[in-house]
Amino acid sequence: MKKLILANLKMYQNTKIDVSNYLNDLNKEKDKFIAFPPIIYLDRFIQNGYICGIQNISIHKEGPHTGETSALSIKDMGAKYILIGHSEIRQSNNETDDLINIKIKNALNHDLIPILCIGENLEAYNQNQTKEILKTQIINALKDIDKEIIISYEPVWAIGTGKTPTNEEITDIVNYIKSLFNYKIKVLYGGSVSEENIEKLNQITNIDGFLIGKAATNPNSLKKIIEVAHT
Ligand code: PGA
Repeated sequence: MKKLILANLKMYQNTKIDVSNYLNDLNKEKDKFIAFPPIIYLDRFIQNGYICGIQNISIHKEGPHTGETSALSIKDMGAKYILIGHSEIRQSNNETDDLINIKIKNALNHDLIPILCIGENLEAYNQNQTKEILKTQIINALKDIDKEIIISYEPVWAIGTGKTPTNEEITDIVNYIKSLFNYKIKVLYGGSVSEENIEKLNQITNIDGFLIGKAATNPNSLKKIIEVAHT
């Protein structure tokens, strides 16, 4: 099966021109990856035929919550996926596992597919506590949930740093995560995936795809990544 390619565009696109150029450049690849654009451009991506998800949702269903976005509105717009528990949001919004659990339930209630992001920080990695941390994140995030989700393993120390774990480390962690689900779950890898390292990372046989940040903002890099991951 072809690996899933997810482009987490974060807040890298900030003008209509940026977005137009991106949409034009990737027009031929638009059914080969899932785009997570800044929310304000979601409709543009969808109207241009791109498969989309969003980067975050509210814990609330509706009502007096200034600046927030409901799962219902995302579904209504035509997005299909939601990133939940990304380390940047865990950190900047003090997002706890309990809040992540509520967001996943919200997403599932509207038939959106949650991509649960989990990962250890550098200290935990150095102390060999990765599996323990991931297991806790998974158990807490999925409390009272038995529907299908996707997990993205994203070591915090690998995001935006140019560093990645070795292929052997990723293989071992992905296998561990899958073992917690009786091997009935898709697991992605994210953290400094680039056109330079995709050939090497693509040799990992047990991952189901890649979640790509910075490199996905460059259409040529993303094309190269798709080409390698889809061969
Ligand atoms: P990066 O981001 O590819 O820029 O490291 C990955 C992510 O945050 O999902």
